[in-house]
Amino acid sequence: MKTNNQGNDTLNKKIKRIGVLTGGGDCPGLNAVIRAIVKTAHHEYDIEIIGFEDGYEGLIEGRYRKIDLRDASGILAQGGTILGTSNRADPFRFPVLQNDGYVYLDRSSQGVLNYEKLGLDALIAIGGDGTMGASAGMIEKGLPIIGVPKTIDNDLVGTDVTFGFDSAVITATDAVDKIHTTAQSHHRVMFVEVMGRYAGWLALCSGLAGGGDIILLPEFSYDIEAICDQVRTRNAQGKNFSIVVVGEGAKPVGGEMVVQRTVKHSPDAIRLGGVSHAVAAQVEELTNIECRVTILGHLLRGGSPSAFDRVLATRLGVEAVRMAAKGESGKLVVLKNNRMDSIPIAEVAGKIRTVTPDDNLVRTAQSLGICLGFAQGESPEKYYDPVQTAPRQGQEDN
Ligand code: F6P
Repeated sequence: MKTNNQGNDTLNKKIKRIGVLTGGGDCPGLNAVIRAIVKTAHHEYDIEIIGFEDGYEGLIEGRYRKIDLRDASGILAQGGTILGTSNRADPFRFPVLQNDGYVYLDRSSQGVLNYEKLGLDALIAIGGDGTMGASAGMIEKGLPIIGVPKTIDNDLVGTDVTFGFDSAVITATDAVDKIHTTAQSHHRVMFVEVMGRYAGWLALCSGLAGGGDIILLPEFSYDIEAICDQVRTRNAQGKNFSIVVVGEGAKPVGGEMVVQRTVKHSPDAIRLGGVSHAVAAQVEELTNIECRVTILGHLLRGGSPSAFDRVLATRLGVEAVRMAAKGESGKLVVLKNNRMDSIPIAEVAGKIRTVTPDDNLVRTAQSLGICLGFAQGESPEKYYDPVQTAPRQGQEDN
């Protein structure tokens, strides 16, 4: 039995080596987590850290390297991930190139073998719902995994917020601020489309922060007439420009989301994008007011993490090591009421957290007279049509 220098964790078994990987789409703050993991492992526990390259791909293919204090130095403010990442590496449906193209094989046992060969005592998986889905399967195969939630979409269940989100909101808000001046100068309706997949958090928060007049979310189907009415009303009031912030998953009443492409090998193959072009074309035709579209895309995943994200990522990284050192497993470290907490990964796998009609942010937007795609005074419930589970399994396209 051993007690660490904080005096509060009694170790039954000395944990010596922990693996770490970053999976899914990158976001600001991943390096801050890696840094916190390496520093805590060194200063608190004298644990060695092995970093797998490109998420679960590195675990399956045996691509890894030792990450020491020198590697973890100077990366706090750096975007991306020094380990690389992949959103095509589901160990249970791993794409393998054979003579006549890709086949999908269950390589999860190879991952367990590589984990054991390295003499690891735990694995920290930093990722979103795809990575947690894969992790849930690997936990069932016996790997002691601690999850750390990341994503600009902020759509993981069980945590108040994911790191990466705040930085993306700041980037989107800055874009909306800049679009404002050209909207005013040219008296146009300017559309700013943001990522977020099936969740409207990014659109809603950057729309509120940037003073958007219309905010379209994936969770509420939009009525084109209501959007045009808002634009006309503003013009009648002498405000001869409008800003529309659009979540990429927005869809019309009775219609579908706009799929930009499908990605071969990806657990969720659908890539959204471009809906604002369709909405802008309709608004221009129906109102005779000039419209322009800006799609922010991957810009939102780049850049240095905000101070909030750096602190959150650091807290999560420290807590993940503490949990691993205590021998805990199968849990996702989360932020709950500004405290570090944890929930079983099995509880979050395959689920997504989306905006609900009773969310305070929805009510706040309505109180300000912001059009959420339907007429003021109409109930959000009537237009509520969310995607509730994360779709899985790759498709065979481009
Ligand atoms: O989940 C993060 C995210 O950036 C989504 O907002 C977006 O829909 C998707 O990833 C884009 O994925 P990719 O990087 O594969 O184009």
